Amino acid sequence: MKKPVKIIHDCDPGHDDAVAILMAAVHPSIELKAVTVVAGNQTIEKTAVNALNVCSASGRCKNVPVSAGMSRPIVRRQVTAGDIHGVSGLDGPSFGLPDIELDPRHAVDLMIEILLSSDGDITVVPTGPLTNVAMALRREPRIAEKIERIVLMGGAYQLGNVTPSAEFNMYADPEAAHIVFTCGRPIVMMGLDVTRKARATPDVIARVKSLGNPQAVLFAEMMEFFAKTQREIYGWDGPPLHDPTTMAWLIDPGCVETKPMRVEIELRGELAYGRTCCDFFGLENSPDSRGGAMSGIQSVLDRPKGANALVAVDIDAARFWDIVYETFAMYGK
Ligand code: RIB
Ligand code: CA
Repeated sequence: MKKPVKIIHDCDPGHDDAVAILMAAVHPSIELKAVTVVAGNQTIEKTAVNALNVCSASGRCKNVPVSAGMSRPIVRRQVTAGDIHGVSGLDGPSFGLPDIELDPRHAVDLMIEILLSSDGDITVVPTGPLTNVAMALRREPRIAEKIERIVLMGGAYQLGNVTPSAEFNMYADPEAAHIVFTCGRPIVMMGLDVTRKARATPDVIARVKSLGNPQAVLFAEMMEFFAKTQREIYGWDGPPLHDPTTMAWLIDPGCVETKPMRVEIELRGELAYGRTCCDFFGLENSPDSRGGAMSGIQSVLDRPKGANALVAVDIDAARFWDIVYETFAMYGK
């Protein structure tokens, strides 16, 4: 049995974040060291309550600190996604009172504390805007060498979902994304290109719900709301379950095909602000291939050299849903 991967899950619950939390809390391949919360899908007050409710519903987080972090992006004006996740950020299910409380430490401080005291064997799993992770890297640069890997949901090398160019997590805090993508640590990027292939169709929802345990029923209740807004806005036959692709990769990396690419965040574009510009064909692999004025303009920013991320380019959707089903089955029949 391989050793579990120690993770800090940084999230903005969020229906798909909630499923990712429930997977991380129960799967033996993952040791959930902390849940840190960031503003994103909704305000920090709402995402923090949602994280508490979901961690409590898992029944597996009594010793997992849950802490609230950054309440707004580093530079840009705040955006949220109430149109997708509802006023509460987790509309649909109703929760009882959580049996855990927020940790009093700020999420950035908690992240730094855990990383500095670790053996450098922590994977950071962001599934929301990267504000907390970026602020931790700026507050305490020494944590970079303590991060074994960053496995994040966000970005796309093809179409965006909040603008034609940009995906929500990156768009919500592009400057934070730039800090993370230039931090020098190994990154695995689960972008919309693959998460859109992992759609929770009615058959998928019914299969997990048939397990009958409270967490599986909660999954179905959340998906029923999530499906409605995604159908209204994008016409999907089932909501793409973005964030749990990170946990599925940790459980079975073979379910996702990745390709090394240089990924840079557009910070100056009017139309492409927040886009993950992915060098799919390796056109700019060597620094001297950056011609023209752009190299001068961009020179005030750190720019990665060569590939700085493994970008997901395909997913075995059947295998992904088996992983989700098998994980929820671990909560009992
Ligand atoms: O674009 C999808 C991402 O934005 C997901 O993480 C979802 O929860 C929202 O945060
Ligand atoms: Ca999210």
